[in-house]
Amino acid sequence: MQKLTRNLFKGEVSQIMKQEIFLKKNIKSAKSLSQIYSDKDYISRTDKIMAQYDIENATIPIIKYNKDEKFIWATVYNNYLKILENHACEEVQDAFDRISKSVKLSENEIPQLKTISSQIQMHQGWKVRPVPGLISDQDYLEGLSNRVYCSTQIIRRTDDLLFSPYPDYIHDLLGHIIPIGSKKIAQNLQKLGTLSLNASPDQIQQIASIYWKIFEMGFIKTKNNEYKALGGAVLSSYQELQNISSSNVKIEHLRNLQIGKKQVNDELLQNEYFYIDRIEDIDEVIENLRKSWENESNKTDYFMILNSKQINAPYQFTFFNKNY
Ligand SMILES: [Fe+2]
Repeated sequence: MQKLTRNLFKGEVSQIMKQEIFLKKNIKSAKSLSQIYSDKDYISRTDKIMAQYDIENATIPIIKYNKDEKFIWATVYNNYLKILENHACEEVQDAFDRISKSVKLSENEIPQLKTISSQIQMHQGWKVRPVPGLISDQDYLEGLSNRVYCSTQIIRRTDDLLFSPYPDYIHDLLGHIIPIGSKKIAQNLQKLGTLSLNASPDQIQQIASIYWKIFEMGFIKTKNNEYKALGGAVLSSYQELQNISSSNVKIEHLRNLQIGKKQVNDELLQNEYFYIDRIEDIDEVIENLRKSWENESNKTDYFMILNSKQINAPYQFTFFNKNY
């Protein structure tokens, strides 16, 4: 028993050390803001905010947000509260309740990332670190494996009030960091991240595709046939959420889908969303992806299909030779 306790303690110490190392890793943006915006003031504001991160000591800066940024926060946050109450899945609602008991969230003030990071650490052992914007899937997943969420600190532009084509702090906070207050979501994010360690570039793409379908565009379909938002993109954008009722949009069961390279334009509203039946299904999806790599380790094809169309059948993967 003593040996087991000692080993568990060693494991936790090693995790904390890896977490600290990742907080100080130099992470570059995978797509710079100037590829999307020509607004020089906005780009300069973003650069100034990022330059404040003290990477050597992993100290998150306190940002002095301006009047326009506060107005944008208040508008999106009020919409988010409506989404949360009426359209979010239970797991996310519980996470919000947990976090908001220990940190005051209000439309009047943009919560500082530093405060949020200490709350996430207290609840789930996670930390948050600032990054300059959209980073590579590999860096992002490595962060998840170390229980670190990589977040921006910039606030979207007024023109992007209800849908931002580029990650901003509002999306990161409401769509991703608050859900980490759920133990189940936090554990699954870490598992997905851990799968990326030593993964091939093709396997990273498969993980990114699953991440996209669950943790950005994912819903849970309730027994009453209601779709409840789980993914960060739908939780943090009223426009994205409303989009699912458009006639040209599909919402598909994750069990029936091809999982391969993520080939979507994430700067636009989507025309394809995804659902699972219950939060526990995420465990099964991740575990079966891992097993499929073991079973198919001598094959080079990396596109897969979740091959069962029966309700309640296991989420299994089969490789096949086709791009999509
Ligand atoms: Fe996101």
